[in-house]
Amino acid sequence: MTNKNKTVWSNRFKSTTSKSFQRIGSSINIDKRLYEQDIFASKVHTQMLIKNKIIPAKEGRKIIKGLDKIKNQIKKGKFIFREKFEDIHLNIEKKLYEIIGNSAGYMHTARSRNDQVVTDFKLWVKESTLILINELNSLMKNIIIKSEKNTETVMPGFTHLKNAQPISFAHYLLAYYEMFKRDNQRFLNNLNLIDESPLGAAALSGTSYKIDRNFTSKKLGFKKPTNNSIDTVSDRDFAIDFLYACAVCAMHLSRLAEDFIILNSDAYQLISFSDHMLTGSSIMPQKKNPDPAELIRGRTGINYGKLNSILTIMKGLPISYFKDLQDDKALVFDGFDTLKDTLIMSNELIKNIKPNKKRMFEMAKSGYTTATDFADYLVKDKNLSFREAYKISSKIVNYAEKKRKNLDELTLNEIKKFYKDLNISVLKIFDVKNSMNSKNSFGGTSEKNVKKYDKKI
Ligand code: ARG
Repeated sequence: MTNKNKTVWSNRFKSTTSKSFQRIGSSINIDKRLYEQDIFASKVHTQMLIKNKIIPAKEGRKIIKGLDKIKNQIKKGKFIFREKFEDIHLNIEKKLYEIIGNSAGYMHTARSRNDQVVTDFKLWVKESTLILINELNSLMKNIIIKSEKNTETVMPGFTHLKNAQPISFAHYLLAYYEMFKRDNQRFLNNLNLIDESPLGAAALSGTSYKIDRNFTSKKLGFKKPTNNSIDTVSDRDFAIDFLYACAVCAMHLSRLAEDFIILNSDAYQLISFSDHMLTGSSIMPQKKNPDPAELIRGRTGINYGKLNSILTIMKGLPISYFKDLQDDKALVFDGFDTLKDTLIMSNELIKNIKPNKKRMFEMAKSGYTTATDFADYLVKDKNLSFREAYKISSKIVNYAEKKRKNLDELTLNEIKKFYKDLNISVLKIFDVKNSMNSKNSFGGTSEKNVKKYDKKI
């Protein structure tokens, strides 16, 4: 076997690794996604080795040039990734040998694949977190734009999917803005925790070379080097945190999607999607189905699955490095890809919904949604206890139900059957817009509140 085809450990082995294990155990098809981070970290590592005179500067410079060449080859699709060399780290090292010969052998001084892989992976998670934050920001912006047009739009607020109280459609949308604001913060918090450089922990115990971990940490954009070399190569908390933040965000998106699916259903017809966001049926000519919203809802399952898998892989794993850890990357990559697509679809969805204002208003009036307002009126204006007022209001609801009327269709005389001391001004209590705008408490649904709502991104 030529040197070119040999694994780096071949001298120690009597036979080559089994073919089936080579296929199953190789991660190159997944971790080739780390090539930029790997080359970046290898260059920084080499710079440090030169600076601290651990390797000859001449060899170091060859390594750096060779790495740049490899990066170009990969970018142009001219690099052949080989299963035999397991992963991105060894594929690049092998290629470096091809390009600069034995000088390549200096690169892996004072490091191991164990600290190398966590370094690459952390760099990737940091960058990808920023991509998701960006998508989240535009989603929040689109929600604000939609809500600003709908401050005055009254809709029925539901509890138990039963008409509860009139609310502003803007206020309803801004509830989601709050969730996404927390998701954003959750991703940002993670960036804080991830910000320690693993490079230099080597296999598990550190190294006897006089390396400069502060230098590499700074150059790689981390706040500081990690404290404990064993923890460094064992730790995948940052991947779990990332997948957890993805899962929570996906959960919020699935609630938004489900809400929209319900509001768009033929039974509700409170919002419509532009055709952009709909698909037809292969058999039923009349159908317009909200498939994108359904995918947003469904894919949450994928995000939950990735989180569950990584937690299970990590459970009971003795500390330091084990091959179990190799599967962490596929989970994180899939979690990222899934959430990114879900966010892109959600952005489209928000832009392409239209409230059916007339129907929202009509539905807000049905289901006796102002019954609580009337009870509150009796408490505030007639000094009744809330329980007493509640009783009177429920009797009015029973009456209206029997007469098949909405509350705002009752006459003053009809209302007076239940409480005598009332004049015509009481009728405005049953007006849904008035009800909405009376909810002036901090965080409530009144137009005034919604207009001055703190919408910072
Ligand atoms: N491909 C490996 C992974 O992703 C790199 C680390 C390998 N280390 C080792 N001791 N086998 O985990």
